[in-house]
Amino acid sequence: MVIDGPPTVGKSTLVKLFAADLEKTLRRREPHKFQPHENDGYIVDYTPVVYISIPSQATPKDLSAAFAEWFNLPLRRAATKNEMTDAVLRATGLCGVQLIIIDDVHFLDLSAKEGKVVNDHLKYLANHCAATFVFTGHDLETSGLFLEGGASERATQTSGRNSLHKLGLFTIGTDDERRAWANVVKTMEDALVLLDHKPGTLIRDHEYLHHRTGGSIASLSLLIREAAIRAVVSSEEAITRKVLDQVVIDRRATRGYDKFRKQHNIHHNGNPGRQEPPAEAS
Ligand SMILES: Nc1ncnc2c1ncn2[C@@H]1O[C@H](COP(=O)(O)OP(=O)(O)OP(=O)(O)O)[C@@H](O)[C@H]1O
Ligand SMILES: [Mg+2]
Repeated sequence: MVIDGPPTVGKSTLVKLFAADLEKTLRRREPHKFQPHENDGYIVDYTPVVYISIPSQATPKDLSAAFAEWFNLPLRRAATKNEMTDAVLRATGLCGVQLIIIDDVHFLDLSAKEGKVVNDHLKYLANHCAATFVFTGHDLETSGLFLEGGASERATQTSGRNSLHKLGLFTIGTDDERRAWANVVKTMEDALVLLDHKPGTLIRDHEYLHHRTGGSIASLSLLIREAAIRAVVSSEEAITRKVLDQVVIDRRATRGYDKFRKQHNIHHNGNPGRQEPPAEAS
């Protein structure tokens, strides 16, 4: 599976939550498997999930090295790519790996020369271990991993093996989209521990929050966290529109909101009008 989306939409958070959920479920259901045990002459730790975050401009050897590090495999410094990959594949089998997450896959060097080698390497890894692979990153559809249009036969072998899922910014064009956004706001509001905060205040402001953040979950979490800190420091103990207006968040969101205000002729600290929360989010 490939999860493709622009920066900071929550791809890493999503896959890490999913991975943690899977491992916790397995630990609950099959605790005995997690005791160190002998397998083929080795003492192994059952390791159902592997999470690799790719460093920038990584080569196939770097990818195998990252796996080796996750498994704490003792490898010679001068080990070749093939030696490393063989050791990694043996470890994935022995440790019972079920899910392999490769995050920030756009950092793999997919330039014309290396691209084929990387694609072949990923295919080799996927073919030789029984785990499910999840890749995340941005612009993957048009990168060497998929090579839409003008794709070489070999590159499309990777795209032919994976389903593509897109993750983007939240929009509030339809009732369903608005409800989904309001539910995100509600979840963050429910997590607040402010003495005098009136529950529901932020949901009522969900449209304003969308204008402020452009529908980015990262900007929303930044805005609410910063507002909550201000509410504690000022002893107000509640997030109000006044506090939210004072918080400066990331440049992308701020520029988007400035543009929105200009288009709608809203002055600083202006009120674009409160909306009642969508029924299911209240
Ligand atoms: N489900 C969530 N609930 C609350 N906050 C979230 C959630 N998902 C993401 N965030 C916030 O957004 C920030 C960015 O998320 P994340 O790092 O997962 O994005 P990303 O898509 O992996 O970005 P990049 O492409 O830069 O790696 C996180 O630091 C977190 O504060
Ligand atoms: Mg990420």
